[in-house]
Amino acid sequence: MIDQASKLRTMVKDKNMDNPIKIYSILSGKGGVGKTNFSINLGIKLQQMGKKVLILDADIGMSNANIMLGMSPSVNLFQAIVGNTSLSNIIKTGPEGIDLISGGSDLFFMEDLNKESQEKAMEALKGLGVYDIIIIDNGAGISKQSLTFTDFAHEVILVSTPEPTAIMDAYRVLKAISIYKLKKQVKIVINQVPDISIGREAYNKLLNTANQFLDIELENLGFIFSDIRVNKAIMEQNPIVLRYPNSLASENIDKISKNLLGNKDFDYNVSSLKQLGNRIIKFFR
Ligand SMILES: Nc1ncnc2c1ncn2[C@@H]1O[C@H](COP(=O)(O)OP(=O)(O)OP(=O)(O)O)[C@@H](O)[C@H]1O
Ligand SMILES: [Mg+2]
Repeated sequence: MIDQASKLRTMVKDKNMDNPIKIYSILSGKGGVGKTNFSINLGIKLQQMGKKVLILDADIGMSNANIMLGMSPSVNLFQAIVGNTSLSNIIKTGPEGIDLISGGSDLFFMEDLNKESQEKAMEALKGLGVYDIIIIDNGAGISKQSLTFTDFAHEVILVSTPEPTAIMDAYRVLKAISIYKLKKQVKIVINQVPDISIGREAYNKLLNTANQFLDIELENLGFIFSDIRVNKAIMEQNPIVLRYPNSLASENIDKISKNLLGNKDFDYNVSSLKQLGNRIIKFFR
């Protein structure tokens, strides 16, 4: 894992300013804290702000981004490669022109493919088109997959609720990131906060513990209020930022999107989609 990670890191250093792309890995310790809802709504907001966004649903076996987006499930990459399905069947375009690919499990079945199929898979990935931003929605907890995507992405956004159990699990994820030296900095979103003071308290708890025990820097990306319209929007299979744009949670996600784009770091460590494909293939060799 460490060896693979260092290979990946070497590749990340390559720059191609012609086709900059920024990859975010969305993580959590505890399950059900709101990663998928955040990922799709963040993606839609960024798309509305003029970025071309791809969501990679990497929650193996439990992928549900398509349901929240009101989209039918896409053929995954593995099926496409094995069944010679065309690329257009892998990518589904959803609301506001956001693209979705169910790719996580496929990438990890890559090891089972013969060399020719691996090459084909990489060619497929490279040919995905040009995106400004890829958002990887991971499954909960620490797994080989989520750590790999964390290493692979340029930035990590760790989502937690203010509950002590969720904060403790978020800390465990930070610890893993720190131990494997995957990232120096992690952005934090505290979701489902009843009020700002509880959100701040939870963030500070995580910050203080990380400062004390880990070699990792945290950045508070923002809070999202607990909002019944999140549940309503999910029931209606219509992302909240579209269905209830004036709701508290939508306003919070809007602010977080602006924080991300306003981030002075936005253009650093960029790489082209082609390099992204190369980075994945390096990992599996
Ligand atoms: N801001 C919020 N306010 C109220 N409810 C919320 C909010 N965010 C998420 N939820 C609720 O939490 C549930 C879980 O959300 P989501 O599926 O996005 O979590 P997840 O972290 O992706 O879960 P998993 O770990 O299973 O992938 C949603 O169905 C919704 O009901
Ligand atoms: Mg999820």
